[in-house]
Amino acid sequence: MSSTLFRTKKVEQSIRDTEEPEHALKKSLSALDLTVFGVGVIIGTGIFVLTGTVAKNNAGPAVALAFVVAGVVCALAALCYAEFASTVPVAGSAYTFAYASLGELPAWIIGWDLVLEFALGTAVVAVGWSGYVTSLLANAGWHLPEALSGRDAADGFGFDILAAALVLALTGILVLGTKLSARVTSIVVAIKVTVVLVVIIAGAFFVKGDNYDPFIPEAQAVPAGDGLQSPLIQLMFGWAPSNFGVMGVFTAASVVFFAFIGFDVVATAAEETKNPQRDMPRGILGSLVICTTLYVAVSIVVTGMQHYTDLSVTAPLADAFKATGHPWFAGFISFGAAVGLTTVCMILLLGQTRVFFAMSRDGLLPRFFSHVHPRFRTPHRPTILLGVIIAIVAGFTPLSELAELVNIGTLFAFIVVAIGVIILRRSRPDLPRAFRTPWVPFLPILSVLASLWLMLNLPAETWLRFGVWMAIGCLVYFVYGRTRSRLGREESATAGTN
Ligand code: ALA
Repeated sequence: MSSTLFRTKKVEQSIRDTEEPEHALKKSLSALDLTVFGVGVIIGTGIFVLTGTVAKNNAGPAVALAFVVAGVVCALAALCYAEFASTVPVAGSAYTFAYASLGELPAWIIGWDLVLEFALGTAVVAVGWSGYVTSLLANAGWHLPEALSGRDAADGFGFDILAAALVLALTGILVLGTKLSARVTSIVVAIKVTVVLVVIIAGAFFVKGDNYDPFIPEAQAVPAGDGLQSPLIQLMFGWAPSNFGVMGVFTAASVVFFAFIGFDVVATAAEETKNPQRDMPRGILGSLVICTTLYVAVSIVVTGMQHYTDLSVTAPLADAFKATGHPWFAGFISFGAAVGLTTVCMILLLGQTRVFFAMSRDGLLPRFFSHVHPRFRTPHRPTILLGVIIAIVAGFTPLSELAELVNIGTLFAFIVVAIGVIILRRSRPDLPRAFRTPWVPFLPILSVLASLWLMLNLPAETWLRFGVWMAIGCLVYFVYGRTRSRLGREESATAGTN
């Protein structure tokens, strides 16, 4: 049995599968499209919302350091992702890579994990978007009934109608085709980057040096009780739960990590890229470098404009301008944030449907989902199914804990990819690799350790939830996927004819 669990799909076979006309996606994206795609999904709720939350609760002005820590962890992972994306240029991201290097069960686990990352990530961003839109509508004097303003606003029944409507509208755009959505994306990305640059440049004039004192606030004990909400590492080593201080910077890093999610999504579009060998690494690393620079600059400016204890946790960038007496800037920033979060949501949704598509093409999920639309050449069935489910989740779910669950899932995927790079170098040294991760195996090992470190800084309850989701995934695999796997069937057929 262990041989079936670890059967691997040949890289050549993965590429061949994508060439079957019935299951082929259109190859239309360039390196620039990919970078725009990356920046489009990376800059979002993380910088627009979480910066204020973690500065106030965990790190003070040192939130800028937290962004650097999270950026380094992502850069290590990106160097591993870039090698795999340029070696295995087919839809499905870490899932496909794990199938080619680690075997079917690890691939299933990672695919299941990515479904969690993208689906919940889409829901989180949709609800964040709805918050900004609600605040803009309120400025104009329009108020939605409480029952339709989401979980947080409601006492009893609460459904976030705006978040759900956004997800459904984006589902429609994705069904019509990637090229259309990439074009829409570029315009929106331009608006979003402009807003971020305005925050940095205009905000720099309102910075007060006193606000950086103390830069790393002293550690403070957290009241006992609610142990499960403490970072796992504090519980493991029996440390007294605390906030701020140097450990606070790491806690903050494990949360603002959400702000970087998305560069891995670029890898999921490999199959739709004209020249993946050359363009994938450029797209992934390029978007990561741009975003890290912007994040560090924004967090330094915002914590300089307002003392960290006064920062808002819902719209910190806009509110910092209000606090310094510039409401016009605040309105402009809120508008840009609302527009920008739209693309984040759309690209996460796209990554999500592509992983689902790849898993179904391999027979691990029903094959019904892997047929592409005859005219639009998009995987319309998983797009519609998942879009509707995510719209419901976004409508009924409050945010904060979901973001941590998304982070743990993504970090886990990073670990699998880094291990996969090492294994594939040994098992298939012959494969052409347009991009090679430097210093293998040291860099991938460092990437594993760095990702694990951030995971350990997430709350124990996040680990529990993640464990439950993965246990359900294993059940689905053993009950459905293992016997229906296309690879397994082909292997048995070959064995039968021999
Ligand atoms: N990185 C994306 C965001 O911050 C997911 O919203």
